[in-house]
Amino acid sequence: MTGVPVHLRVNGSSATITVEPRMTLADALREELRLTGTHLGCEHGVCGACTVIVDGLAVRACLMLGVQAEGREVITVEGLGDVAHLGPLQRAFRKHHALQCGFCTAGILTTAHALLMEEPNAGEDRIREVISGNLCRCTGYLPIIAAIIEARDAYREMQREAAQ
Ligand code: FES
Ligand code: FES
Repeated sequence: MTGVPVHLRVNGSSATITVEPRMTLADALREELRLTGTHLGCEHGVCGACTVIVDGLAVRACLMLGVQAEGREVITVEGLGDVAHLGPLQRAFRKHHALQCGFCTAGILTTAHALLMEEPNAGEDRIREVISGNLCRCTGYLPIIAAIIEARDAYREMQREAAQ
């Protein structure tokens, strides 16, 4: 099968990858760009572990083809911060012990980031509704909700700064 060149931006940088037309975006990110923070669980759109942000929207990377990312802006969990510079959600997750095995965490962080970028005032019910598409088998969800609630202040501040 001949590879197809795909030009996209990932975590703020331009990238060109060559993928088979049937390769999912999740596999393209993991195998072609070595962005292995995006996890694969169910591989059919149920668990949310593979969630990345495409043009501002939370997307199941196991249900999107790599070739569909042509010209798109993709953010993976690696784009939310790193060990030396944790993002506000990551800091809040650490503070609230909102992860245990961590398998679901990348997908929950990206889902929450997409939500708070659009709705930094999202209430607890709204957060629960949005996160309901991400399965976690360890935490019982309560610390995850608490962490996302805490991170809202930072997103409000980012929004204020962007508006100035
Ligand atoms: Fe994509 Fe489960 S691996 S939703
Ligand atoms: Fe283990 Fe969520 S922390 S599945």
